[in-house]
Amino acid sequence: MDYKTYFQQYPTRDGYFGEYGGIILPDELVPVFHEIADAYNAISRSAQFISELRRIRKEFQGRPTPVYHCERLSRKIGGAQIYLKREDLNHTGAHKLNHCMGEGLLAKFLGKKRLIAETGAGQHGVALATAAAYFGLECEIHMGDVDIAKQAPNVARMRILGAEVVPVSFGLKTLKEAVDSAFDAYLKSYKDSIYCIGSALGPHPFPVMVRDFQMCVGLEARDQFLEMTGIMPDVVCACVGGGSNAAGMFSAFLDDPVELCGVEPMGTGSELGQHAASMTYGSKGALHGFESIMLKSADGSPAPVYSIASGLDYPGVGPEHAFWRDAGRVNYVTAGDAEAVDAFFKLSRYEGIIPALESSHAVAYAMKRAKEMHTGTILANLSGRGDKDVDYVIEHYGYGDNYGFPGE
Ligand SMILES: Cc1ncc(COP(=O)(O)O)c(C=O)c1O
Repeated sequence: MDYKTYFQQYPTRDGYFGEYGGIILPDELVPVFHEIADAYNAISRSAQFISELRRIRKEFQGRPTPVYHCERLSRKIGGAQIYLKREDLNHTGAHKLNHCMGEGLLAKFLGKKRLIAETGAGQHGVALATAAAYFGLECEIHMGDVDIAKQAPNVARMRILGAEVVPVSFGLKTLKEAVDSAFDAYLKSYKDSIYCIGSALGPHPFPVMVRDFQMCVGLEARDQFLEMTGIMPDVVCACVGGGSNAAGMFSAFLDDPVELCGVEPMGTGSELGQHAASMTYGSKGALHGFESIMLKSADGSPAPVYSIASGLDYPGVGPEHAFWRDAGRVNYVTAGDAEAVDAFFKLSRYEGIIPALESSHAVAYAMKRAKEMHTGTILANLSGRGDKDVDYVIEHYGYGDNYGFPGE
């Protein structure tokens, strides 16, 4: 695969990365998505759009976010040096705002008046509500009842920002059902709304659009890491829910001699229903308007999924990740709940950074690999901060007094 010309080749005009992606929707809706793709291609390349987005990133979001060397954590582990791209310092506390501001700006250029989306952990919902407030647009966020109960601070933030939070009470009442519900709402009102999907998935052009808006993470991190160390990292890792933070990070390193690792949630075990490791256990299928690798039940329907991190429990993955896996460019590995909680407490105690439970999966993998590698460098994407998870963690795991390094 020639990654120098990759961005010209993929996705195809129909939105395919190899055999994954596309617009898998009723015939009458396919032209609607082609129209969005054409508008996105034209508008996002205009000088006006690019300069406005650059200004927003700098003045409103506080970009660039730094890369940070975890010297103390690395010393404790005693292996490779761990570096973090600090998306937790992006305004609203996670990488999600990167694509929400892009999507909001696109909505403004297209003359739409409402933003519609789903949310799992609530980070995407908060980011989109923020973008809606910034651009003066209406905002409707669909969220499962289970996640509403688990992520109360983010629900409050969305409401304060002026968004309508639509509770989703069917099925497992988590992320997949929230996507079903938001998607239905959008298909009924696409003329004056835009669906701002929360990850690099959904029908074309959403996977490529979200990847493009997230690529600032990887491009910044690559430059910053080179400036700090003079070399490329040996390993770059990021957690994978739908795959937006990982896609943004990896796409800047595709043509470099760097091992790329997407970290999926292994939850509490390998049985169906105990994890959301789509790449590890899934197979080809279609869901929410696109083809990719999915976790399926025996009857072919989307499998029930679970992770301690609400933002990771989705039974599929963005199509570009499925393509990268088949091309052998990215390895997909796993970290379970227990490893993520361990990383949550260790990063808090040894570096003064409380990570989101989603991001804790990437940190857990970085810690594991650092030990195995002995030397070298690992750059992990710290996709978000953990304030939203603090209540849940305290209730289930206490304050982490048992999570020190052995021998301390
Ligand atoms: C902090 C954080 N990281 C990661 C994710 C997972 O999403 P993605 O795989 O699209 O980056 C989420 C989703 O809510 C999140 O809130």
